[in-house]
Amino acid sequence: MNIPPVISLKNIVFGYRSGNVLDGLNMDVLKGDFVGLVGHNGTGKSTLLKIILGVLTPQNGTVKLFGTPIKKFKDWDKIGYIPQKAGLSVSHVPITVDEVMRMEKASDYEVDEALSSVDMLSYKHQLLRELSGGQQQRVFIARALVKNPELLILDEPTVGVDVKTQEKFYELMQKLNHDFHLTLLLVSHDLHTISHQVHCVMQLDKKTIPYETNTCNIIHTHHKNADHN
Ligand SMILES: Nc1ncnc2c1ncn2[C@@H]1O[C@H](COP(=O)(O)OP(=O)(O)OP(=O)(O)O)[C@@H](O)[C@H]1O
Ligand SMILES: [Mg+2]
Repeated sequence: MNIPPVISLKNIVFGYRSGNVLDGLNMDVLKGDFVGLVGHNGTGKSTLLKIILGVLTPQNGTVKLFGTPIKKFKDWDKIGYIPQKAGLSVSHVPITVDEVMRMEKASDYEVDEALSSVDMLSYKHQLLRELSGGQQQRVFIARALVKNPELLILDEPTVGVDVKTQEKFYELMQKLNHDFHLTLLLVSHDLHTISHQVHCVMQLDKKTIPYETNTCNIIHTHHKNADHN
């Protein structure tokens, strides 16, 4: 029996009022993949993630999640998401780690499990704003993991994080990928670092970024702007 791709995008066309951002994009992410998504500022990485999450609807093309057309898809617990600058939205609010976790309507047990998996259980009752950036990042990862997702989507999770914390972050991603077969889609600007971590890299602007990383034979992109290089 064939397992359908976790994410399947066919001929995606999407534009804001200012014009098309994605112009005929195709992409499959298979179960257990660790995919890096790179591209310069404004090439549509966050936009693409929002299409996958159903926050934005493309003008053309089809999105399937776990084999189901997105309009019929209901298993949103299967997908964890850490938005770009996740910390900013709560950085001034006096909210505890536990309360952040409860936003996902998780049980006590689920919260403790998720916080342990990122070594943050002992911070459960601390205020989020009193944690370091790297610790906050771990809390957001824990929140995204609390419902035991099969797919984790991260939008620039290592921005502003020191090298050591970044290394620990990638160790954690490798563990989640290997031990729990979590499928990962991760946006980053750091092509060098990410290419050592992921199975394959997908670029939204092939024209402008040198491509010298692992070949990715499961991802097929067709981006109009990057067609003839
Ligand atoms: N809500 C919006 N309304 C109109 N245009 C938008 C909106 N969000 C993004 N855009 C435009 O769409 C393009 C792609 O934006 P997007 O945020 O997807 O880029 P990105 O690749 O994630 O960039 P970055 O690396 O800076 O995060 C940009 O030109 C941006 O100005
Ligand atoms: Mg972005």
